[in-house]
Amino acid sequence: MNLLVIGGGGREHAIIRCLKKNPAVETVYALPGNGGIAADAVCVDIGATDLDGIVNFARENAVDYAVVAPDDPLVLGCVDRLNEIGIPCFGPKANAAIIEGSKAFAKNLMKKYGIPTARYEIFTELSEALRYLETAPIPTVVKADGLALGKGVIIAQTRQEAVQAVTDMMAGGKFGKSGTTVVIEEFLTGPEVSVLAFTDGNCVKPMVSSMDHKRAGDGDTGLNTGGMGTVAPNPYYTEEIANRCMEEIFLPTIRAMNAEGRTFRGCLYFGLMLTPNGPKVIEYNCRFGDPETQVVLPLLESDLLTVMRSCTDGTLADTEVRFSDKHACCVVTASEGYPLSYRKGFPITMTAEAAAHTFVAGARLSEGRLVTSGGRVTGTTAVADTLADAVKEAYRLADGVTFENAFRRSDIGRRALQAGKE
Ligand code: AMP
Ligand code: GLY
Repeated sequence: MNLLVIGGGGREHAIIRCLKKNPAVETVYALPGNGGIAADAVCVDIGATDLDGIVNFARENAVDYAVVAPDDPLVLGCVDRLNEIGIPCFGPKANAAIIEGSKAFAKNLMKKYGIPTARYEIFTELSEALRYLETAPIPTVVKADGLALGKGVIIAQTRQEAVQAVTDMMAGGKFGKSGTTVVIEEFLTGPEVSVLAFTDGNCVKPMVSSMDHKRAGDGDTGLNTGGMGTVAPNPYYTEEIANRCMEEIFLPTIRAMNAEGRTFRGCLYFGLMLTPNGPKVIEYNCRFGDPETQVVLPLLESDLLTVMRSCTDGTLADTEVRFSDKHACCVVTASEGYPLSYRKGFPITMTAEAAAHTFVAGARLSEGRLVTSGGRVTGTTAVADTLADAVKEAYRLADGVTFENAFRRSDIGRRALQAGKE
């Protein structure tokens, strides 16, 4: 079988390595892939949002199955386009990917179908948003409606900050079109849990839970990033909470999307907050999380390609999705300065042992050498019997990845380890 994987980050590297465990896989094409993925797949320089380029490539290269991993091609309708030329895909069509593509859509869906989430108001007029903020409870959360690379969320600690955020988004053009509609919502508290779930539109099978570390600095300080590390499973996500989430959140969401004529097939990501009033949805993503995938897939014992295809053809209920009961930790190595400005182009060295456990995100090949090309450069994952051992081993392995301006958080997994002792 020839597979096509759209995307070029650490998540895609993890997906590709996992897919290749199936002996029926002959060639994996990655569009565009990256310098590290090139060791595991045939990378072709076609951008993940170049839908015409993707379709032409797929047509000319006898692709049997495609996995569309990032949010933007999904929201733009990459799956619809590939389906039109007869290529089955893992991932939702555009009319279902809107669950991530528009926060206003997601919030309205949850309200209509009674799915627990933060209370909210949606605004398309700046003056109305500002009037609402005069009496809104503080802190409050301001979100740009559309995709904003994970940066469209402002937690405003003061009324003034909220006013600034709303003004920047609605009048200042920050986030462009994504910010012309804003959602202002209730500030929730509690541990956060990421749950990725396979679904064929009827059946939903959650993967092992995970915990992201979104802030750039130790102790959850500094700016929000795409994610500086992850652990799985998430110790706050007990079996009791998992059962509750299935009944109150996962199944109702799948049914709601069907009722709206927007059947979701693929990986649905539930960003949850375990509040004192029960689990609530912070966000939906229409795809695998990054770097959640880098800890979740290494724990998958079933064959990924078989599970993905069962989501496409509606047979997930009859397909085993089994995870190991071990623990995984992924430590991201980033370029100093990320998520703001950073220098790139530095040669990367990796010990053979580190390379075998490292998923490459922001790197390209330059005259045959791997050099940095992005903010998050690599994610190094270890699997062990205990969380403590997985964390220790991930850091030991990550020390085998070096480049000039490398930085990582030193406390990935610390909160999870403490949770276990509470
Ligand atoms: P998002 O980009 O939607 O994942 O939001 C980024 C981060 O903002 C989340 O991981 C949460 O930590 C935080 N956040 C989003 N919405 C809320 C909320 N209603 N209350 C508290 N924190 C929030
Ligand atoms: N790690 C969060 C995300 O993928 O959106």
